[in-house]
Amino acid sequence: MNDVPHPALRPERIGDLSLANRLAVSPMTRVSATADGTPTDEMAGYYAEYARGGFSLVVTEGTYTDTWHSQGYANQPGIVTDGHEAAWREIAGQVHAAGAAFVLQLMHAGALSQGNHYRDDTVAPSAVRPRGEKMPEYGGHGPWPTPRAMDQDDIDRAVRGFVAAAVRARRAGFDGVEVHGANGYLVDQFLTDYTNRRDDRYGGPVAHRVRLAAEIVSAIRAELGPDFCVGIRLSQGKVNDFTHRWAGGSRDAETIFAALAEAGASYLHIASEGRDWVETATLDGGMTITGLARKVTRLPVLANGGMHDTTRAATVLEDGHADVLAVGRGALANPDFPRRLAQGLPMTPFDHQMLQPMATLSNARQWRQSTRVTA
Ligand SMILES: Cc1cc2nc3c(=O)[nH]c(=O)nc-3n(C[C@H](O)[C@H](O)[C@H](O)COP(=O)(O)O)c2cc1C
Repeated sequence: MNDVPHPALRPERIGDLSLANRLAVSPMTRVSATADGTPTDEMAGYYAEYARGGFSLVVTEGTYTDTWHSQGYANQPGIVTDGHEAAWREIAGQVHAAGAAFVLQLMHAGALSQGNHYRDDTVAPSAVRPRGEKMPEYGGHGPWPTPRAMDQDDIDRAVRGFVAAAVRARRAGFDGVEVHGANGYLVDQFLTDYTNRRDDRYGGPVAHRVRLAAEIVSAIRAELGPDFCVGIRLSQGKVNDFTHRWAGGSRDAETIFAALAEAGASYLHIASEGRDWVETATLDGGMTITGLARKVTRLPVLANGGMHDTTRAATVLEDGHADVLAVGRGALANPDFPRRLAQGLPMTPFDHQMLQPMATLSNARQWRQSTRVTA
């Protein structure tokens, strides 16, 4: 064990949230809720394990926000019924008892819905068929359908869904919500030039394309007041397009970050879908995307993508590129990642087999039993 603790083990604050260290569990879809979206006891055990393992912040999997078009996958959890709320309250109690802050990721899948309990059609900013194909790990097969372009009523309903979901999240005991604006889902479909071909106030220049994200954040903020944590996650890459980059580079990034800070975001979480932070971070002009987010907004910034590399993680923090690190695959393989880091213990490498044939908790459990990993 080193004498000098790893910088990720130092405490941090996000608004009113005191974090014992700078290690967060990245949001990860596990498609393990019941068919009607109710979280299960198995999910409670899954989330509490991260808290017991020393993560100071646990961000949930993307959770759907309405009974219209938001749901993305069969067996995805929701936060739209009293039953969902009660089940999340139980989980939040267990996570808090184990000492972590708990944030619910709010997700509207838009065109990338491949399983919706409530309806079959999909909606999006424009009627553009998504690139790529549905994802077998979350129960989908074949090409995406072409979505229907949303009208203003659809947009207003989607925003209301996010707000109602955030209200339920607070009632269920969450410390905050994170708007899923990353990875190609609805909010990102509005941000992205080739999926947003609108010519109204939500389309055209990036300042218009970020409008939906900003409206969602400010509507939640207006409803829940200044103290509730309202983060937002962004990424350039998408689950169905890993190499996408914002066309205007750092200029687009500045516009997006400033709009979200102005809307009242508590933190920005920059994901690196399909690629590591190192590959996605550097913008024209030499700044990193997370460093620029810090500079423009003065808000806490979470960096993500390969942060299980503890040497890189130290550099990202010490060189001022981010305030908190979100760990995804490294946390799946090591739910006690922070404890191992503190004690200088070796990390178990992530094995993609633990998400096969689907990313469910039961498949991960079987993988653990078959490999006799007891982490
Ligand atoms: C099984 C799995 C499910 C995921 N689900 C989500 C999700 O629901 N919301 C989200 O924003 N990102 C999701 N991601 C992306 C991760 O949060 C993270 O950005 C990605 O794994 C890269 O980080 P890492 O290198 O630490 O794994 C998922 C990743 C995995 C492996």
